[in-house]
Amino acid sequence: MRVEDSRFIRGRGNYTDDVKLPGMLYMEILRSPLAHARIISIDTSRAWAIPGVRLVLTGEMMAQRNLAWMPTLSYDTQAVLATDKVRFQGQEVCVVVADDPYIAKDGCEAIDVEYEPLPPIVNPEQSAAPGAPVIRDDKQGQVDNTCYRWEVGDREATERAFAEADVVSKLKLHYPRSHPSPIECCGSVADFDPATKKLTVYMTSQAPHIVRSAVALIAELPEHMIRIVSPDVGGGFGNKVPVYPGYVHSILASILLGKPVKWTEDKTGNLISTGFGRDMYLDGEMALRSDGKILAVRMHADTDQGAFFADAQPSKFKIGLMHSTFACYNIGTGYITAQGHYTNKAPGGVAYRCSFRVTEAMFFQERMVQAAADDLGIDQAEFRRVNLLPDDAFPARTPFGFLVDSGQYDKCLQIGLDAIGYEEFRREQAAARAKGRLLGIGISTMTEPLGAGNSREYDILGIKMFDSAELRVHLTGKAILRTGAKTQGQGHETTWAQIVSHELGIPAADVVVEEGDTDTAPYGMGTYASRSTPVAGAAVSMVSRKIRAKARKIAAHLLEVSEEDIEWELGRFFVRGAPERGATIQECAMAAYSNMPDGMEPGLEGNAYYDPPNLTWPFACYIVTVEVDPETGVWDVLRVVAVDDCGVRINPMIVEGQIMGGLTEAYAMSNMQFQTYDAEGNIVGSNYMDYLIPTAWETPGFELHEVVTPCPHHPIGAKGVGECAAVGGPAAFVNAVLDAIAHTGVRNIDMPVLPDRVWTALQTHQDVS
Ligand code: CDP
Repeated sequence: MRVEDSRFIRGRGNYTDDVKLPGMLYMEILRSPLAHARIISIDTSRAWAIPGVRLVLTGEMMAQRNLAWMPTLSYDTQAVLATDKVRFQGQEVCVVVADDPYIAKDGCEAIDVEYEPLPPIVNPEQSAAPGAPVIRDDKQGQVDNTCYRWEVGDREATERAFAEADVVSKLKLHYPRSHPSPIECCGSVADFDPATKKLTVYMTSQAPHIVRSAVALIAELPEHMIRIVSPDVGGGFGNKVPVYPGYVHSILASILLGKPVKWTEDKTGNLISTGFGRDMYLDGEMALRSDGKILAVRMHADTDQGAFFADAQPSKFKIGLMHSTFACYNIGTGYITAQGHYTNKAPGGVAYRCSFRVTEAMFFQERMVQAAADDLGIDQAEFRRVNLLPDDAFPARTPFGFLVDSGQYDKCLQIGLDAIGYEEFRREQAAARAKGRLLGIGISTMTEPLGAGNSREYDILGIKMFDSAELRVHLTGKAILRTGAKTQGQGHETTWAQIVSHELGIPAADVVVEEGDTDTAPYGMGTYASRSTPVAGAAVSMVSRKIRAKARKIAAHLLEVSEEDIEWELGRFFVRGAPERGATIQECAMAAYSNMPDGMEPGLEGNAYYDPPNLTWPFACYIVTVEVDPETGVWDVLRVVAVDDCGVRINPMIVEGQIMGGLTEAYAMSNMQFQTYDAEGNIVGSNYMDYLIPTAWETPGFELHEVVTPCPHHPIGAKGVGECAAVGGPAAFVNAVLDAIAHTGVRNIDMPVLPDRVWTALQTHQDVS
């Protein structure tokens, strides 16, 4: 059991909504019912008249304080409260603060807003159409709905490779809009103390220090007078990285009223207004030699960014790390272009359980690989074998600039194929097909960049991507560890203590881990992109080693020998050649406060800021078998085999939990989960009746296998793992369904691969989007 489980499973967690402060008021947000409309007037008088209403905030009031707009993590701006127009259904229009949450809701209902509807734009095609209304007319110089354009790779070399190709394989698809949908929605309790002028905000954030810096900049408050506390967080999956308007409203309301103000978002609010994931249209082609060799890859991505460009993404890469695509394959050369489009939808494009845009990158890669193998008439496992980077290729520079440093790709693939019984399944499949049964097998192999930094290449809002750890070993040998990461269920309280124990020999039970309080934790960039182990976890190792180095000097003093004569075994120093003469780490800790050598600074504590030399590159092979019902298009999963290589595993049980969770989300995305919008911009997927979360009942069983290729630069050889299965998994499910209906010649069914889509494909023999 994980350390944190004892409080979670007994309902003793302490989440933001559990925070109750004396005199606390409650906040509710009035949201726009329309996707695109001009605001003609807002009448708040009836709301003000309700007893118990303390404050009604409008965009105009925010504008008077220069707070109507805020910067996003992608150098765009986002409306905090609408002033001129509403730009998506669910946008924040007014805020009511009252004595209790019900009065605040009543207050919202009493506000009269007059809108003049404008034509809504709900996809990139409409967004780019000539004469389309300009959504972001608030931005100077914005003449159309283009959010950004970006390109990477070698265009000329790619064109040359395509001219020499025997076969060109093409594929177009849409990765639908999905939502991370953590069980706990967003929320905050802002507490501005008028006496001390200190602002404390309890909030659901994956990155409290970034929020503190953002609040300091937006609200122009001194950073040392801001304390952000992320207590227990009930799942984040990327959804809790951005700074949402609701946080800003509660902060301003608390400053204006001099009282604590709580905002607790409901499920619909979360689903319709906070950071979604994906919504990308991909168009790609591969230049192939007839023997199966990939010569080049060309791709274009159109992303639907919604009304504001509010991704979290490293500033140099407009489309996240999309160009990590094909990193595990030797593709020769490649060229990627991308265009972001503003639409009348909620802002986002957040990294839903992934590193920026790698999920889309890996999905497209693995769908293209299957299509290319089919076009060449080569078995899909064999096609991968021909093109995967061999073990002796590392370190290898990808055509898009990444340095892939380690892996045993062929071994992982082979373990997966053996586990599923690939050849036997192919025979079974042929026999079943002869009897009208449709069996299919899908493979997805991928490496992905986890662990943003390093600081040379990665920053958010100019803040370099590193992380930190602070370790204090007390007099009795017990310790407290703090990091700049923030667990949201990943189990850091367990695994960080294990790293300290591994480095120092202090029992893990003697190490308490604290994260999420900016007044006490060292500055860090938070937890997302599976960066905690690669960066903060490395910092934990490094700070432990600093402590060990100091403890060695103390041991030499205690044992009355020179430092050079001291040897280390886990938890204990001893004299070389006289192993019975030793000092435990606990004895050294005691001496650090009671008997230190002359001239030595007392205490046994330190901190480490870790800037990784590279990203970490875990590899995974996911293989899925399915049976499709030819009458209904319903498909059942037969088996799921996962082979993950995340380097050294700190806690195998937690790693397996991460992989199972990721595979569950992969299954959901491929099978049932998406947000869509009607022509008026009304969201479909605003509640759990429409937006489906798989339960234990639907979720298939998973068979897990492992390979360990240590990360060459991480202090303990670990690579990130949290998101691998969610990133690599979806393609395996979709590939399996398409393999089952390969006889129709259908190359693509867009996710989610709903039964009616499969049925249509079976009837029409046409791709279904
Ligand atoms: O950043 P995040 O915590 O979401 O992802 P991660 O760094 O991949 O770690 C997820 C969980 O798996 C953490 O508790 C890690 O310590 C653990 N883990 C592990 O035990 N061994 C690894 N090689 C990687 C992660």
